[in-house]
Amino acid sequence: MKKIYITTPLYYVNSTLTVGGAYTTIMADILARYHRYSGRQVHFLTGSDEHGEKILKEAKEAGKTPKQLADEIVSHFQLLWEKLEITHDDFIRTTDERHERIVQKVFAKLKEKGLIYKGSYEGLYCTPCESFLLESHLEEGKCPQCHRKVDTIKEENYFFKMSEFQKPLEALMSNESHEFVYPPFRQNEVRNRVLEGMRDVSISRSVEWGIPIEGEKDQFLWVWFDALVNYISAIGYGENEELFLSCWPADIHFLGKDILWFHAVLWPAMLLALDLPVPNTVFGHGWWTFGGEKISKSKGHKADPLEIIDEYGADALRYFLAREIALGSDGEFSVEALETRFNTDLANDLGNLLSRSLSMLEKYREGKIPKTDSLDDLDKEVIQLIEKTIESYHQQMPKADYFNALKQIWLAVQRVNKYIEEKMPWKLAKDPEKSQELDNTLAILCGSLKTFAYLVAPVMPQSAQKMLDQLGLDQKIDFDSFSEYLNISFLPEGHTVSKERFPLFPKSN
Ligand code: MSP
Repeated sequence: MKKIYITTPLYYVNSTLTVGGAYTTIMADILARYHRYSGRQVHFLTGSDEHGEKILKEAKEAGKTPKQLADEIVSHFQLLWEKLEITHDDFIRTTDERHERIVQKVFAKLKEKGLIYKGSYEGLYCTPCESFLLESHLEEGKCPQCHRKVDTIKEENYFFKMSEFQKPLEALMSNESHEFVYPPFRQNEVRNRVLEGMRDVSISRSVEWGIPIEGEKDQFLWVWFDALVNYISAIGYGENEELFLSCWPADIHFLGKDILWFHAVLWPAMLLALDLPVPNTVFGHGWWTFGGEKISKSKGHKADPLEIIDEYGADALRYFLAREIALGSDGEFSVEALETRFNTDLANDLGNLLSRSLSMLEKYREGKIPKTDSLDDLDKEVIQLIEKTIESYHQQMPKADYFNALKQIWLAVQRVNKYIEEKMPWKLAKDPEKSQELDNTLAILCGSLKTFAYLVAPVMPQSAQKMLDQLGLDQKIDFDSFSEYLNISFLPEGHTVSKERFPLFPKSN
């Protein structure tokens, strides 16, 4: 059976990650979890990009071999993914033998098909971006992506005949019934560049830290040619047919807009050259910025995800990144903005709703879910709103529209908080004639909380589980959980919630 195949880019191992780097992986993890909880089989891949001039330089400066540097940084990535509860099924390193072997096979196949030839490259190269550039790409004489100085290089290289794929790529970008690049405005940008005319690309370098080319002493594969192949090498292209067919074509490649051209143009051209289908969607998200510039460690921007996790918890970082900006837009990062979301949306709106509701249930009904009967209009309105929220959630989440999904969930959370103010259970409790109304209110509150726990689970898995634990529900949020539990059914009458209370969103200091 075809799995939903979700990927992140492979992170460069020149340095540890900022929140900007963690962003792509968190966004991919949310989708992977959403599909798994919906009962779909998922294959989720991430990894590290370890070759190339940039890594070689960085390692030399640090007095290490590139492999030593890579090993250190990869253990940082793995620690970060663990702390963020990333649920990848595989982690590929471009120095893995399984990868290098398949990259060499891909090169040999394209060469045999006459799609790779030898030529000479004389032109510009941006080492931080590892990209070949034309004079016309430059902005004020600098790289248009990272705004750094570019180098002029002259080498005898191998070229890939990308120009052969001009027409199919134009068609791919012009298919009105299917957006290949997402969000759509980015597809327009890419299409316009394709329409300017595609040139053949150099795919080798005389930089010795790379995958060797058979029969060549001083030519190694260009790091992008090598790295892009990971999406098929990790699933055993040409070697493990069962795994490959269960995953390919990828459903979605997540990546930042800075590397969209490689994924939306070069990669599909390589796939077409291999007679393979192209991925379904290439999602180019925006940047987290500092003063309008892409966050970058080398520019001294401080946005260390591990520090934020230590202070606010992994879920708060996951929530903030998914909720603060729509996937596709840019957003200015600040710990103050994160703190505001933490205090208002999380601790106040959701955390307090849980603690208030459970303490009222404890106080008025000894922690036992009461029987509902004769619901009034207000009760029904709240129930309907939650049902509608679930409906739109299932439209927004598969499109990775976490921003709107969370916005709507929080409107519902706030509505339920208001419902408490309207019902005033503390008053109902004083009037024996209002006993049924109080029962209904308390049951609806607990039912809503259970639903909210499942709705937020892909974004905040730890908190969702904590909510269920405090509701006394012995349910692990897991494969196919949604089919049974993501609904507004009330908790069973007589069910006792947990006596153990703890803040849902504690802060470490
Ligand atoms: N190694 C290449 C990708 C090869 S994929 C075959 C690369 N690596 S990277 O480490 O520089 O970037 C990895 C991802 O992190 C990219 O999607 C990039 O957009 C993302 N981000 C890094 N900083 C970012 C921000 N400040 N904001 C949002 N995402 C950014 O490119």
